[in-house]
This record gives sequence, structure tokens and C-alpha cells, in this order.
Amino acid sequence: MSTDGVDNSRRRFLTAATSVVGAVGTVGLAIPFISSMNPSARAKAAGAPVEVDISKLEPGGMITVEWRGKPVWVVRRTPENMKDLEGLAGKLADPNSDATQQPEYAKNMHRSMVDNAEVIVMVGICTHLGCSPKYRPEMGAADLGGAEWKGGFFCPCHGSKFDLAGRVYSGVPAPTNMVIPPHMYKSKSVILVGLDGGVA
Ligand code: FES
Repeated sequence: MSTDGVDNSRRRFLTAATSVVGAVGTVGLAIPFISSMNPSARAKAAGAPVEVDISKLEPGGMITVEWRGKPVWVVRRTPENMKDLEGLAGKLADPNSDATQQPEYAKNMHRSMVDNAEVIVMVGICTHLGCSPKYRPEMGAADLGGAEWKGGFFCPCHGSKFDLAGRVYSGVPAPTNMVIPPHMYKSKSVILVGLDGGVA
């Protein structure tokens, strides 16, 4: 999937964030507005789980959805990507995900559920100051370290880099790995973002 999806999600996220800021100052006006929303829109705004169909998600592809006003990325990594994750530990600040940036079932090198290890779900927000990084899956990108770059995410705001498990590189402004939201598999091809659990 192209980086356009990331840019669009960022725009949507920024729009949503602006709306939230606006709502804080106008609570009196917001209540009638929210009660006029239809039930599914109200549930979504309150943080209801979001269903993601990954049946057409190809290796190397990414789907962006919105959950609680934030962009959430679902990426299917290639077998080569999975192998590369093992060799990156020495370049990362928290390769074993020791910080609490993910549910217990995603506390592993791949930061995903073991039964569906190649698919990762993460909140697409940089842990430095909240920009939305760009998806840069191409190996050896010259502007990101050449041959050493094994694909990942690059934050253009201040240059933080993350691998394809959302693990932050050492020596960049972002202090922690990207956040893995609660999620579960409703079936092999449908993920529910926002609900804790395993594989149904
Ligand atoms: S917000 Fe991402 S590097 Fe600063």
C-alpha cells in the first residue's frame, strides 16, 4: 500500500484531533450534537471496537482504520520481514518490548499474536510528539540508512525511526515503541480493534 494511505490517515487524525479540541471548549453545544448522532456513530465516537477485514491484505500491505479518533494500522509482513526483525535487536532501544506499550499477548519480538504473527496492529502515532509516521517498507532506502534499513516507519517531524514491529530505533527523539492497541481475531480474516482477546 502506498504512503498516501498514511498521509490521508494523518489528515483525518488531525481533523479529528482538532474536532476534539473544539469540543472541549463547547461542551454545552456538543451534547445536543452527540445525541443527534445515529447509534453507530455515537458508539464509534465513544470508542466501540472497529472491525477490520484483512482477507485481501497482501504481504507488505497496510490498512488504516480509525479507532477512538486515532489512526490504527494493520500491516501484513512478509516472511523476509519476519526474519529481519530478529537481526535488528542491537539497533533498537527496547527490542523485547519491556515498556508497557502493548497488551501482554503482543509482548514478543514481532509484537503480534503468535497465531497470526505476520499481522501487526498498531496505533499510527509517533511516541515523541504525536505526528503520524510514514510507512516505508522498502528495503535499503537510501535516505533511511541504505542497506541497513529493513523497512519500517519514519516520522518526518523529528526523524524518529521504527521497525516493522513498531520498535523504536536507538538515538532518535521518540522514547518508546509505538503502541499496540487491544485487539482480537473474530475469525482468521477479521480483526476487532479495541477488544482484548486472542483468536476466536
Ligand atoms: S513527533 Fe515523531 S519524531 Fe517528533
